[in-house]
Amino acid sequence: DNPIRVGLLGAGTVGSQAARLLVEQKDELAARIGRPIELVGVACLDPDEVDFPWIDKSLLTTDTMKVATNADIVVELIGGTTVARTFVMAAIESGASVVTANKALLAKYGPEIYTAAEAKGVDIYFEAAVGGAIPFLLPLRESLAGDKVTSMLGIVNGTTNYILDEMTTKGLQFDDVLKDAQAKGYAEADPTGDIEGYDAANKAAIMATLGFHTNVTIDDVSVEGITKITADDIAAAAAEHKVIKLLAVVENGEAGVSARVYPALIPESHPLASVHGSFNAVFVKAEAADDLMFYGRGAGGAPTASAVVGDVVTEARHIAQGCTGPSIPMYHELPKAPVSAS
Ligand code: HSE
Repeated sequence: DNPIRVGLLGAGTVGSQAARLLVEQKDELAARIGRPIELVGVACLDPDEVDFPWIDKSLLTTDTMKVATNADIVVELIGGTTVARTFVMAAIESGASVVTANKALLAKYGPEIYTAAEAKGVDIYFEAAVGGAIPFLLPLRESLAGDKVTSMLGIVNGTTNYILDEMTTKGLQFDDVLKDAQAKGYAEADPTGDIEGYDAANKAAIMATLGFHTNVTIDDVSVEGITKITADDIAAAAAEHKVIKLLAVVENGEAGVSARVYPALIPESHPLASVHGSFNAVFVKAEAADDLMFYGRGAGGAPTASAVVGDVVTEARHIAQGCTGPSIPMYHELPKAPVSAS
């Protein structure tokens, strides 16, 4: 059988680990898919800077457009909303399916991208965009498609959870812990988006879009980050047996759809209070299913790559079987609830 060709855009923290899983498990994945799978190109900014034993040097190129338009599955791990948008749209236009971890791109241009993928009859999968390794978006998209999700409450940013956790349990200073989170590969290239809450807000927009079958973008999300949280705030919370957690809250209530991100005081006895380090967790309330909880590593190279490569296998199976997964039509224009101050 002809191999299914995978083009990788980006060879950073997540991209290098996704390449490792694809290359090291090549034979096993071929057996799971029913066809061989081959990494055919790795686009990066500087091939001289990329040095991993599992990435064949001859695959490295700065010609991102060439990789984006010469594969069956394009994996976008560049990040950001500018060039990533160009390459994702070009990949779809070329007839490739797309896997991305790019929450900012989907929160801003999701409707355009989902519509283009649907029109072209290709898949777009992005499990890694919310909750890192946690299998959470697929359940929202498929397993819960017969139910009505009414709200979701989550810790969806590993960097801020790590920072708040270290400040709480070890009494460390904000800036020192942030550096640590960057060194561990949790934070974005520019960590401002993590600590100001925008990364979690991007994820909230995606959660609401998939969970409520409607169109929610970053512009609909109210955001407050953790930069104003001090050691004194954390101590005051602890004195009341509470912890501070950055929460993403999305609701589909009588007032309409709302999405917000803010630092919340949570009782120490609450299950979310024991989500430590870079772990994420999301509670989902659905009318028939009742309460569900998803938990796992929300950031970091290998955990995020697990979700990325899972999507690649899903798409490769669809290609091998000549089918596609469910598209993401935004069925309802739901009213947006007025944004209230948190
Ligand atoms: N910077 C993100 C986080 C990475 O800290 O959660 C995972 O999306």
